[in-house]
Amino acid sequence: MKQRIFEIKENRQIAEGTFKMVLKGDTADAGGSGKFVNISLPGLFLRRPISICDLSGGELTLVYKVVGKGTGDMAQMQPGETLDLLTGLGNGFDVSACRKEALLLGGGVGTAPLVFLARELVAIGKRVTALLGFNKASEIMLADELRSLGATVFIATLDGSQGTRGFVTDILKEKAGTGNPITFDCFYACGPMPMLKALCSAIDAPGEVSLEERMGCGFGICYGCSCHTTAGPRRVCADGPVFKKEELIWQQK
Ligand SMILES: Cc1cc2nc3c(=O)[nH]c(=O)nc-3n(C[C@H](O)[C@H](O)[C@H](O)COP(=O)(O)OP(=O)(O)OC[C@H]3O[C@@H](n4cnc5c(N)ncnc54)[C@H](O)[C@@H]3O)c2cc1C
Ligand code: FES
Repeated sequence: MKQRIFEIKENRQIAEGTFKMVLKGDTADAGGSGKFVNISLPGLFLRRPISICDLSGGELTLVYKVVGKGTGDMAQMQPGETLDLLTGLGNGFDVSACRKEALLLGGGVGTAPLVFLARELVAIGKRVTALLGFNKASEIMLADELRSLGATVFIATLDGSQGTRGFVTDILKEKAGTGNPITFDCFYACGPMPMLKALCSAIDAPGEVSLEERMGCGFGICYGCSCHTTAGPRRVCADGPVFKKEELIWQQK
């Protein structure tokens, strides 16, 4: 973990309630896909964790949804302003777990870490299909970025305003019925807990999911972010946020 000061190069809205921030700074140890940064914001005691959306050419991209004070303040920030980040946090996705064909599943802003993951998978010669789920068409984000990296992208919206009506798992069902099913040997997912729980029981292939628990310290000392695993309680910030499908024990919520 390193504390670094980054300069904002770009900060703009890319979908309803969602912003993309591009930062310039020392990204040497910011890490691989699935890792996250923890952002200090003026006047707020706790840092706010945000996944690395992309890391390329010395620029770090974050995509965040405005849900409260911290993300609301971030949305007001201007190019040229600076941010204090803890970088290199979390374990990240294991791209070597994919033999040939990877399925990426993103729900809402959980799509963000899949961009860097797709970049890494394509770079080592894997074929990538991404299934992205949103409430409605105005919330769709990062589909073009994933396509430009070489991924095949399918969209689902809950209200049916674009793509398949329903959840990301409904895209799989729909394609299975066309005689042209989506093939993959492993999956990677990030999104709301109910989505992750549903797809882990719906998909037989091995997979990894990135959890987004509420965090306190963000680096392993407060135990405020525990999840249940076959090896006992684990800290999402320090032992995750990425866990293998088979090690997670889903709680009733
Ligand atoms: C490892 C990790 C990676 C994350 N990556 C991203 C990302 O790439 N993009 C993004 O938009 N968000 C991401 N989040 C969630 C993000 O950290 C929170 O949305 C943010 O901290 C909220 O801060 P706030 O001050 O705006 O809201 P607050 O005022 O702190 O909270 C506002 C509302 O958001 C809810 N909330 C806050 N934190 C979380 C959380 N972690 N999970 C679910 N609900 C929460 C609160 O319960 C409350 O209802 C990530 C979280 C984790 C743990
Ligand atoms: S947030 Fe403190 S241990 Fe994870």
